[in-house]
Amino acid sequence: MRSVEPIRWTDDGVILLDQRRLPAEVVHITYTDYRDLAAAIKDMVIRGAPAIGVAASMGIALAISRSRAATLDELRAEFKTICDTFARTRPTAVDLFWAIERFTRKFDSLAQNAAANNLDPIKEALIEEAQKVHRERQAADEAIGKFGAALLPASGRVMTQCNAGALATAGIGTALGVIRVAVETGHKIDVLVPETRPYLQGARLTAWELHQDKIPLTLITDNMVGHFLKTGGVGAIVVGADRIAANGDTANKIGTYPMAVLAREHKVPFFVAAPISTLDLSIASGEQIPIEQRPSAEVTHVHGVRIAPEVTVANPAFDVTPSHLIAAIITERGVARAPYAESLKRLAK
Ligand code: MRU
Repeated sequence: MRSVEPIRWTDDGVILLDQRRLPAEVVHITYTDYRDLAAAIKDMVIRGAPAIGVAASMGIALAISRSRAATLDELRAEFKTICDTFARTRPTAVDLFWAIERFTRKFDSLAQNAAANNLDPIKEALIEEAQKVHRERQAADEAIGKFGAALLPASGRVMTQCNAGALATAGIGTALGVIRVAVETGHKIDVLVPETRPYLQGARLTAWELHQDKIPLTLITDNMVGHFLKTGGVGAIVVGADRIAANGDTANKIGTYPMAVLAREHKVPFFVAAPISTLDLSIASGEQIPIEQRPSAEVTHVHGVRIAPEVTVANPAFDVTPSHLIAAIITERGVARAPYAESLKRLAK
């Protein structure tokens, strides 16, 4: 596998690059049991909204293809258990639920035409569907990259948050896809990468991923964001998204919201890059987005070393940026601008 390739389907199982061990070690794990793959999503072996969607797709296909069910009814019951297992892994990233719904529709339509005791066509079709989801993610990233690159400055600093790169999407990335295409097409960009406490996706993953691809970057701590927006010649910010409500309010990694507020203060355009699968038009605003609460050890410990006493800890993994702070939402179908209720609905059709 290429180093910046987070997931691959093989006949032996689903291979994941263990993102918990980056940048120190590049280790791959092969999953043959869907329950272990679901646990890997929860434990952040693979993370990032679109990549979670791909992992759940491959996990469902893995489970069904290895099922010992003898009849269609047994397989249907198993399918429900499998989907419920994946649905319990990470609540905020809507791509996970998008994938589960897509596979449920696919399973139901295949089941309608299936012979009660020949389940092989269903198994094969779900494997093909998982690979199709992966290919579609890759194509979406390329298109997002092209639309987004046109919005970035010809030279100067571009800030991001967390890791919305290849590691997070299984393509070229959304926010980092925009930056990759911009660099490939001649923009002279230095990427400002906040470390992204508490899980350090910026320091561990984005810095590593950009460094692998020789894209210039400067790593900063999260509390330097305001200083650099005020003084550092930042021409734009581009971040990913975990869920975008119908009005454009966007959930992304904790720390994104204050970055957007500071961007408004310093007149720096703040862009969100995400595939259409990250839109959740069933909810009117960001207030309805469920925010994942992660374990307190992610705050009190760094690499297993305690850095705080045993006190009460809060660890919301995401925050919500109100859409009025967002200059544009870049999707594979084009660029949406305010009023988002109309522009997103048009793109989603
Ligand atoms: O907790 P994580 O690492 O899964 O959070 C990831 C993010 O917040 C990303 O910015 C988001 O999923 C977009 S990934 C293209």
